[in-house]
Amino acid sequence: MKLFKHRRLYDKDSLSIDEIGNKPMKFFIKWFKEADKFDKIIEANAMTVSTVDKNDFPSSRVVLLKEIKDRSLIFFTNYKSKKGEAIKDNPNICASFYWPALERQVIFKGIAKKCSSNYSDAYFRSRPFNSQVAAIISNQSQIISSYNELLRRYNEFLKENKNSELKRPVHWGGIEILIDEIEFWQGRENRLHNRVICSLIKNKWVTKILSP
Ligand SMILES: Cc1cc2nc3c(=O)[nH]c(=O)nc-3n(C[C@H](O)[C@H](O)[C@H](O)COP(=O)(O)O)c2cc1C
Repeated sequence: MKLFKHRRLYDKDSLSIDEIGNKPMKFFIKWFKEADKFDKIIEANAMTVSTVDKNDFPSSRVVLLKEIKDRSLIFFTNYKSKKGEAIKDNPNICASFYWPALERQVIFKGIAKKCSSNYSDAYFRSRPFNSQVAAIISNQSQIISSYNELLRRYNEFLKENKNSELKRPVHWGGIEILIDEIEFWQGRENRLHNRVICSLIKNKWVTKILSP
């Protein structure tokens, strides 16, 4: 199947380096809020996270962004999953957002580290009971014999732990991405897109324009 004719024009907006100034995280929050309130964007906080495993092989998957801090992004996962194991061996990480309705992409590069137990406990407690159970009973990224087996584990756990306060499994929690680089992309006419790259050098954001 050829997709040569799949082609869109990008003309919704423009981006100048001056809008970002030396505050790229503040600018990201501005773009994030715009994406979040846009009714055509269903989960603005869905981001693609890429890791590199111990054999230098990359892999990507979507996770949900749960907090934006001054210099970091946080998501939650199972530390024994494929991504969790990759991060243990190589903390270099990339996270990216694509918001098609706004013709915008943002790419972060940084270093991943586990969040504190207190922080992960607080988020775990905030999750609905059923989501807590799923985090407990799922050995994320492990092969299972059947989907029914997963359901059986889930229902058995529910039966045995009805109305009890659940404890966060130690292998499940937050990953904080400490950001070193952010690239903003805004689609433009004639494929002459706007790209601005912001690098943290000696604790200061240095901002440059990239050719599309
Ligand atoms: C919209 C969406 C949101 C997701 N959110 C998360 C998440 O927040 N945390 C997570 O571990 N997996 C999440 N997943 C599942 C991951 O994409 C992935 O399947 C899982 O984390 C296992 O990845 P791994 O085997 O590469 O470690 C989400 C998937 C989708 C499509």
